[in-house]
Amino acid sequence: MTYTTRDERDIDVQRASGVAAEAASGATATMEREVHVNINQHVLLRDRQKEAAVSVRGISKTFKKPKKKLFSRKPVEGEKVVKALDNMTFDVQRNEIFGILGANGSGKSTLIRLMSTLLITDEGEISIFGYDVRKDEDEVKRLINRVSVEASFFKKLSAIENLLYSTRLYGGHGKELRPQITEILVKLGIPEDRVGAPLEQMSRGMQQKVAIARAFLTAPVLLLLDEPTTGLDPRSKQDVQKFVRDLRDNHDATVILCSHDMDEAERLCDRIAVVDNGRLVAIGTAEELKQLVAERDGILAPTMEETFIALTGREINDDGNVVEAA
Ligand SMILES: Nc1ncnc2c1ncn2[C@@H]1O[C@H](COP(=O)(O)OP(=O)(O)O)[C@@H](O)[C@H]1O
Ligand SMILES: [Mg+2]
Repeated sequence: MTYTTRDERDIDVQRASGVAAEAASGATATMEREVHVNINQHVLLRDRQKEAAVSVRGISKTFKKPKKKLFSRKPVEGEKVVKALDNMTFDVQRNEIFGILGANGSGKSTLIRLMSTLLITDEGEISIFGYDVRKDEDEVKRLINRVSVEASFFKKLSAIENLLYSTRLYGGHGKELRPQITEILVKLGIPEDRVGAPLEQMSRGMQQKVAIARAFLTAPVLLLLDEPTTGLDPRSKQDVQKFVRDLRDNHDATVILCSHDMDEAERLCDRIAVVDNGRLVAIGTAEELKQLVAERDGILAPTMEETFIALTGREINDDGNVVEAA
């Protein structure tokens, strides 16, 4: 271990848990505990100064999958247990674009589903602007909007019709919003002559943009974006990223964005939580994470990708899948 307590505190990187910290650094348990206590005090102090938008405290989630054998009619005994999330703790500040960066299967979507009340935690608590996701489900639902790759729309209706439906559903003003909706869609890179075409005639990328426009129109305070640019071409990616920044800057939105895209996380997110196998490995700005790896592992000016590999011990490909070591 090459970094010290002071160094780590200075660069303001919050360590997730004793276990994660130990796994990442190989340090002794005693030393880690000291580091951990100091960091926690520091984080707590900072939290009191700024109101946290989202507070995640010690959450775990396990899935049980019945063991199935392909092409077999016989029931197979036992269950496969997947610990999708393992004791995660972190805070997201108001007006922050907070990235959750991890390989496929690392628990990102599970985390988003727990925050959006679609799933219930086994352990731990999550609060959204002070509301508990379990006890105050209705308030939480009013404050959030989740955009995922499998957005649900009426495919026979046009983008504009779908969005008008959503805004009415959420208590908006229907037709008065038409010009505003068109403007947003155009801003997102959907040609004006396509906003009236049935969604089923649009590419997946365009449908994804409509989902983002919907999140915007329903005016969420907290926007949960689960891989919003996955499968988009580079140009569309940039449109979406620009739009997310605009939401944060001009509409007081707090954004949590899951991604396996290093470049996106680095360019777009104010802070990044690196997750691996259901555990939080490190949190900080891209620069802080790089600095941590540079100091800890002696890597000179690491890229975000090198930083991710150093923190998780894993390399991922463009699709987000773990590349097995040769
Ligand atoms: N509904 C579910 N039932 C069983 N296992 C699940 C379920 N949802 C997720 N998992 C498992 O939990 C782990 C984390 O999945 P997920 O949160 O989707 O990861 P990510 O979004 O980072 O790809 C994976 O091993 C996945 O197979
Ligand atoms: Mg996912």
